[in-house]
Amino acid sequence: MKHLLAIDDLGAEGIEEVLDLTDSFVEVSARPIPKVPALRGRTVVSLFYEESTRTRMSFEAAAKRLSADIMNFNVSASAVSKGESLRDTVLTIEAMGVDAVIVRHASAGVPVQVARWVDASVVNAGDGWHEHPTQALLDCYTLRQRLGALSGRHIAIVGDVKHSRVARSDVAAFTSLGADVTLVAPPTLLPPSLVGWPVAVSHALDEVLPKVDAVVLLRMQQERQTEALVPSLREYTATYGLTARRAELLSDDAVVMHPGPMNRGVEIAAEVADLPCSVVTRQVANGVAVRMAVLFLLLAAGGAP
Ligand code: NCD
Repeated sequence: MKHLLAIDDLGAEGIEEVLDLTDSFVEVSARPIPKVPALRGRTVVSLFYEESTRTRMSFEAAAKRLSADIMNFNVSASAVSKGESLRDTVLTIEAMGVDAVIVRHASAGVPVQVARWVDASVVNAGDGWHEHPTQALLDCYTLRQRLGALSGRHIAIVGDVKHSRVARSDVAAFTSLGADVTLVAPPTLLPPSLVGWPVAVSHALDEVLPKVDAVVLLRMQQERQTEALVPSLREYTATYGLTARRAELLSDDAVVMHPGPMNRGVEIAAEVADLPCSVVTRQVANGVAVRMAVLFLLLAAGGAP
């Protein structure tokens, strides 16, 4: 594997390979000194054109636990504000000698474009509404930890699907592992066409919740919404929010997930986020190990971790 740009690049087999390898990095992460020399001498740069808390820090932690050197590119403190183009920025960074570039950008397709310009490996850390493959991998890993194999499981993805790269990558990954996915959202928060999406759609969260093994809540991405797509946030919460009352409709083993950042009180009630069925912090912890697995597969010359 040279790049990780979209979930479909991996296929079911590739996803399973990442998840299996993640087990060893979960074990490494639990050690008193959570570090292995696997990527010593390798350099990774994180090129984030969009703000991020978890994803950037998670990749940074992953690279450090593998003993790679990591450089952080800070867009606002860079020559981008002097008008340097994306291509020139990327070529400048590559000229310094990097083995992998981790890219986040507000425009779909930027990681694919960067991969054409550089010899280094490229990892998509989120491009516009398009994909966020490592988030889907960590979601798969977390589900597998709690539920076992995903095949035949039923997962609901609830909320602002239209603007969500997480939803697109999750749908691709979950269905490729054999899970059934139901999208639950008002019509205004669904993509204009779902042709080619292997999903069911519902507008009735209360009917879906008792039937699912997991529910993935999506943030209301107001920064991406150019018009009022819901009458008000209060009405959205009343119809599509996972309130404490609704959480009681879930079966005993069902898990609640959220990629973060959460808007407590909007898509998820504050107290639901803290229930034992919520695996939100487990997702974050697993994210580091999953990203170690991805960087290892892209950069290690071979051999076991
Ligand atoms: C998401 C993102 O930025 O795509 N967050 C994340 O990476 N965990 C989801 C979001 O912004 O709502």
